[in-house]
Amino acid sequence: MNTILNYSIGRKISLSLMGLFLCLFLIIHLIGNLKLFNNDLGLSFNQYSDFMSNNVFIKISSWILYFAILYHTIIGGYITYNNYKSRPIKYLIQKKNNISISSRNMGIAGSIIFIFIVVHMANFWWKFKFGNIPYIQYVRDIQSGYLASYEDVLPVLMNKNGHLIQNISNNYEIIYTYKNSYRVVSETFKNPFLVIFYGASMIAMSLHLLHGFKSAFMTLGLKINNLYGHIIHLIGWLFFGLLIPIGFASIPIYFYIVNFFTK
Ligand code: HEM
Repeated sequence: MNTILNYSIGRKISLSLMGLFLCLFLIIHLIGNLKLFNNDLGLSFNQYSDFMSNNVFIKISSWILYFAILYHTIIGGYITYNNYKSRPIKYLIQKKNNISISSRNMGIAGSIIFIFIVVHMANFWWKFKFGNIPYIQYVRDIQSGYLASYEDVLPVLMNKNGHLIQNISNNYEIIYTYKNSYRVVSETFKNPFLVIFYGASMIAMSLHLLHGFKSAFMTLGLKINNLYGHIIHLIGWLFFGLLIPIGFASIPIYFYIVNFFTK
């Protein structure tokens, strides 16, 4: 009996640790993606994307991330299934009113997030890794200092770091050449169904994290009714329940609107 209990507590602790690691990823991922809003022809996002795909430390972290996503999904699914199986119907009906929507639907919201990640990886990760992404050259007008860009430049013109420092005319100097990841994001969110899907998934993510963030700390021993408990509750509610999902959802909506008006 004790061994079964220990396994079950161990599973919950590992689920919480992986969940918090995924929360950390979300913060970093959102900060990187917010570069998409910079008014610089996509330069800062393409620069960031170039760094992310060439840095060894990031590559190793990515594999840890994929493992964490799979582990959290499988163990979370297993715990949800076990709880569901061992819960008498009477108990469910009696307690329903005392439990928040988010804590009651962790399994459903988690499954939606997992489906979202699969679709999302097909939208971006797959294209970035295996797709034929066009190049973009950023040039600066020597006289005025203005930034401009040329797309579809032949990669053969670049040095081995992918950066070209060669003049194309007397008036312009090329400052950078990158794969145009910005354009992939912009093109993807021309599809209204994907924009709706991303928005709906962010609602599921908000519900999942509203309960999940606080619950992970409680599993790790935090008491919810002292000062630290209140701080964690506030962070979970404000950042993971509200600001982070809104931040992510605003990206597809922004691109859809910009593309719509610049058709
Ligand atoms: C809605 C706004 C979002 C945008 C515009 C966005 C954009 C991107 C892009 C461009 C990549 C490819 C990066 C690369 O392979 O170099 C990527 C990867 C990824 N995204 Fe997102 N993302 C968004 C939201 C999310 C959310 C909410 C999650 C998690 C729930 C997520 C999870 C991932 C994962 C797991 C990867 C793979 C990371 C890696 O290979 O290291 N993304 N995303």
